Amino acid sequence: MASKVSRRQLIGTGASVAGAIAFGRFTEAAPHPHKVATFAFMTDCHLPASGQNERIIKAFEKVQSDPRKPEFIVFGGDNVFAVDGKSSKDAEAQFTNWQKALKENVTLPCYHVIGNHDICNDPAEGESDPRAGKGFALEAFAIPHRFYSFDKANWRIVILDTFHRDGCHVDSEQLEWVKSEMKDLRKSILLVSHAPILTVTSYIETSTHKNGAFHVPAGWMTANAAKLRDEFRNFPNIRLALSGHMHQIDRVEFDHVTYVCGGAVSGAWWNGDYYHFPPAYIIVELYDDGSFAHKTVYWEKA
Ligand SMILES: [Fe+2]
Repeated sequence: MASKVSRRQLIGTGASVAGAIAFGRFTEAAPHPHKVATFAFMTDCHLPASGQNERIIKAFEKVQSDPRKPEFIVFGGDNVFAVDGKSSKDAEAQFTNWQKALKENVTLPCYHVIGNHDICNDPAEGESDPRAGKGFALEAFAIPHRFYSFDKANWRIVILDTFHRDGCHVDSEQLEWVKSEMKDLRKSILLVSHAPILTVTSYIETSTHKNGAFHVPAGWMTANAAKLRDEFRNFPNIRLALSGHMHQIDRVEFDHVTYVCGGAVSGAWWNGDYYHFPPAYIIVELYDDGSFAHKTVYWEKA
């Protein structure tokens, strides 16, 4: 069967070709693909104001001494424990501890995604507090905007913002921007979001199992996934989409895009494994031919 697949199809479907390989490069054996970036994807750290610093420092140490030598870290959101519904004072304590932990223990460049638990919606603060909503996160994570991008060689890494007052989706303003970021088809695109754009992890969550059907809350993946998929079909250069949020690990091949949900650095919010997934981070390698590889590291067991 594989022999009938063209080179174009192989490259287009990328990772599905070698999904069973632990850390193989997922494309046809191109003549001399060159690795252009290696990074760590650390999502759902959920660092509280105090109490888990020793463990998160160990995770940072593991990443920075990883034999694959990541050059930077992408934090996938829910970086702090949970500031949603909390007072500004509580939020400040969590963000301050996050900044301190990073400053004192991480030397690699860091890029942050905003997760739902990084958004401080304190009604008492109202709109007059510039830090309400995503203000705290923008400041503490030192990011230029709620969505942004950066380039590594011929890859463009597009950071998305998926949680809003009116739900979980990629809003129209953001989608127009994303399309403009992807229009140079010579660039291979990596999308990173907190909520998965597409995931199967929801179906493992037993809370969705009701009356012989699956009842999946809209906030567990982007509500406008079908529209995004339609748009993505115009961009064959989209290779990979990373996410967090579900604290589980999956890999979904759909059209030409590979969707990877990256587990959680904190496992079950620092309380053991989550649906059999221990605390984890992901090492990702990007190649100049648009191929990539990823490896899960169960860092507390490694
Ligand atoms: Fe989370």
